[in-house]
Amino acid sequence: MTDLSTSYLGLALRNPLVASASPLSQGVDRVRALADAGVGAVVMYSLFEEEVHRDQLHDLMVTETHENAFGEAQSYFPSTAAQGGSGPESGGADRYLRLLEQAAVSVDVPVIASLNGSTPGGWVGFARSMQDAGAAAVELNVYFVPGDPHTSGRDVEDRHVEILQQVKAAVTVPVAVKLSPHFSSMGEMAMRLDRAGADGLVLFNRFLQPDVDPEQLVVTTSTGLSAPAEARLPRTWIAILHGHVTASLAATTGVDQAEDVAAYLLAGADVVMTASALLRHGLGHAAVLLDGLDEWMRRKGFGTLDELRGRLAVPVGVDHDAYERAGYVAALQQLRRTYGDPLGARS
Ligand SMILES: Cc1cc2nc3c(=O)[nH]c(=O)nc-3n(C[C@H](O)[C@H](O)[C@H](O)COP(=O)(O)O)c2cc1C
Repeated sequence: MTDLSTSYLGLALRNPLVASASPLSQGVDRVRALADAGVGAVVMYSLFEEEVHRDQLHDLMVTETHENAFGEAQSYFPSTAAQGGSGPESGGADRYLRLLEQAAVSVDVPVIASLNGSTPGGWVGFARSMQDAGAAAVELNVYFVPGDPHTSGRDVEDRHVEILQQVKAAVTVPVAVKLSPHFSSMGEMAMRLDRAGADGLVLFNRFLQPDVDPEQLVVTTSTGLSAPAEARLPRTWIAILHGHVTASLAATTGVDQAEDVAAYLLAGADVVMTASALLRHGLGHAAVLLDGLDEWMRRKGFGTLDELRGRLAVPVGVDHDAYERAGYVAALQQLRRTYGDPLGARS
């Protein structure tokens, strides 16, 4: 039997398969079912910056109304979302905390809260409430698309660092940053976040890319489940970053079979996350992935994850730019050999 135990964000995990943020965690029963399915940790679905703002505004309005009405009654304040108020008026943030609290005590694997936003500000302090509710760690999803073409790349990068620093200042539990691959120098961005205190990097967010329906003459916004080919981009960056950051590296996108998990680990991932595969095949698929990983490790003669993690990462010390360029040129030459004689192929 192989040993699948590992560590992520300094947390001890029974195995490297993590349920990533998705509706599969929208309920205590669902979180319990994920843990029962065998995953090493559960990342909760995201609480959005907009929801925190909405609840904070609601609390402020309720508080001010009562303050005006009963100015002399200093001891009386309505319960607020942040204090765990309940009732039909309580918002998404409040519900999230209650679920987190119940989930954290219901399962024996770490439950990681997910806070999702794009601007620095007071809302990030909500990470503290997540910690107090029992989150073993916070995954900070910075989902920011610089739609304003005047925004500079450095501003986008600085914004990520600033949000991370604010969250780090609010909590003592580990913080992972889930981010996009769209930086002019992804590696430097990762290293800046690492230096700014990120305990983990989750690579990558899948972007909602609007499309155009020429028949209905409308913009469509739906996004489907991922395909294994999409794993190449995160895997490339994990292979580059392995050995260059002290933060844990989590892979997300494109896991469907055990070989996808193995490939991510070989590239250097500390843990491998999955959402689409569990949504597509059902929770029982977690065991398929784990059994498949175990079988592959035995077949290849690996007893522990440390023996294989990062084996196929970009070697530390190589000229990275030249390495990537050489791979690109070799791939194009291969394509030319395959498709380079279209006239001949047609004759
Ligand atoms: C239905 C659905 C809901 C998701 N919700 C969230 C979310 O709330 N927060 C988040 O950070 N990622 C969310 N994601 C992204 C996943 O956590 C994951 O990063 C992404 O789907 C790529 O992994 P996969 O290929 O295993 O699906 C969601 C994905 C899906 C398919």
